Amino acid sequence: MDAPATTPRSLRPRPGDELELTVDSLAFGGSGVARRDGYVVFVAGGVPGDRVRAVVGKSKRAYAEARVTEILAPSPDRVAPQADHPGAPWQVLPYERQLEIKQAQVDDALRRIGRLSHYVSEPIVPAEHRWRYRNKLEYSFGSDSGGRLLCGFHAPGRWDEVVEVKDCRLASAAANAARERIVRWCRAEGLSAYDRRTGEGFLRNLVVREGRRSGQLQARLVTGPGELDRRALAAAAEPLAGLLWTTTAGVAETTHGGETELLAGARHIDEQMGGLRLRLSPHAFFQTNTEMAERLYRLVLDYGEPAGFERVYDLYCGIGTIGLLFAPRVAEVWGLELVEPAIADAIANARLNEIDNARFFAGDVRLALRELVATAGRPDVLIVDPPRAGLSQKVVRRIVEAAPKRIVYVSCNPTTLAPNAAQLTEAGYELRRVRPVDMFPQTPHIECVAELVRTAAG
Ligand SMILES: C[S@@+](CC[C@H](N)C(=O)[O-])C[C@H]1O[C@@H](n2cnc3c(N)ncnc32)[C@H](O)[C@@H]1O
Repeated sequence: MDAPATTPRSLRPRPGDELELTVDSLAFGGSGVARRDGYVVFVAGGVPGDRVRAVVGKSKRAYAEARVTEILAPSPDRVAPQADHPGAPWQVLPYERQLEIKQAQVDDALRRIGRLSHYVSEPIVPAEHRWRYRNKLEYSFGSDSGGRLLCGFHAPGRWDEVVEVKDCRLASAAANAARERIVRWCRAEGLSAYDRRTGEGFLRNLVVREGRRSGQLQARLVTGPGELDRRALAAAAEPLAGLLWTTTAGVAETTHGGETELLAGARHIDEQMGGLRLRLSPHAFFQTNTEMAERLYRLVLDYGEPAGFERVYDLYCGIGTIGLLFAPRVAEVWGLELVEPAIADAIANARLNEIDNARFFAGDVRLALRELVATAGRPDVLIVDPPRAGLSQKVVRRIVEAAPKRIVYVSCNPTTLAPNAAQLTEAGYELRRVRPVDMFPQTPHIECVAELVRTAAG
């Protein structure tokens, strides 16, 4: 999207203003885009073709952010939503339209932000399941006006309001049932939700994770400091493969950090993927759509073109899944990841699968990549799968120094892939092809894989 022009303060809407707007496109991240005399308003809850009433939240020189309060005339594209679910904002668009938009947004980012062309844009891989595809959900606790305990998701844009879910349509029936057993017990015990405004209350989050292939369920209750009846909770939560309790005094809304205690069962859950047996720690990253992660990794293997002799780097490797899939097809694999328990899982997963040509190290890619090259030698193929922020310019420079012949970039954010790919092409690589994979139906989230090959001598 072009950078919005700035508008004089007197013509800008103010926070709280109600506007009538026509949404004409969708921005990265999923908000609708409307224009008032060229001034851009991002409209949460609006889709192209909608005429809406919206209330302004933030208002800046170049743009404002607003939230739909009423749909005055719906877009002809709209379909009836299937679930009252704040985590599924694109369910109002037909699935084929969601795919078209994701494909176009990847191209748009590469062309406009990265100024890249001459690459092959391969057709998006549609999701196998359009609902109930997530293997992990993080719920929040809150309470209604009568003080009744609720467990669900924050209302869009509201950190202080929780919408209860009884049947989360992104999770399996078994994972929903596990959540309900725990919430019922918390209610019966009279436990209260933590209130971030006052710092009072106990229950913060409930994380439910599922091994989709193993059928194992794990629940982790996150609370403030305090006590609970461990045995009674474990009995009420049955059947589970593992029950954990994390206590944290931090004020931030996060399920990371704090002290985690095992209350019942095992700390890890097991999963299978692409012929591998995997062990997952509670704090290790694992792709949330198991079936589509398998398709994504198949694509990474395809783009990596292993021929049997290569040295492969798997940067941002998590529990090692990608590297372990490459290992039987290449000479050696070297994985690097920041989170130590994830590296412990990667090492255990190599052993579990009798893979002896893959080594994994805990470290920050930014600081440890040079050392890895000194230890392991230059890679033939380098895989990166960074968080949404993408790679810093410095990491890209380190990768260029390492001079792999081929880079396979797994991206969950095309707007950071684009500048990274542009920097790599300036340094002698060619963006050959890119393909989105729909890991997150009913949401604006985009995952894609890109292949870059070295054309200049390094
Ligand atoms: C999108 S996940 C990919 C994980 C893995 N490739 C997979 O498919 O499961 C990104 C990973 O990067 C790790 N990470 C984040 N910042 C890092 C850094 N500076 N250095 C190394 N790893 C980092 C995170 O802990 C996370 O496991």
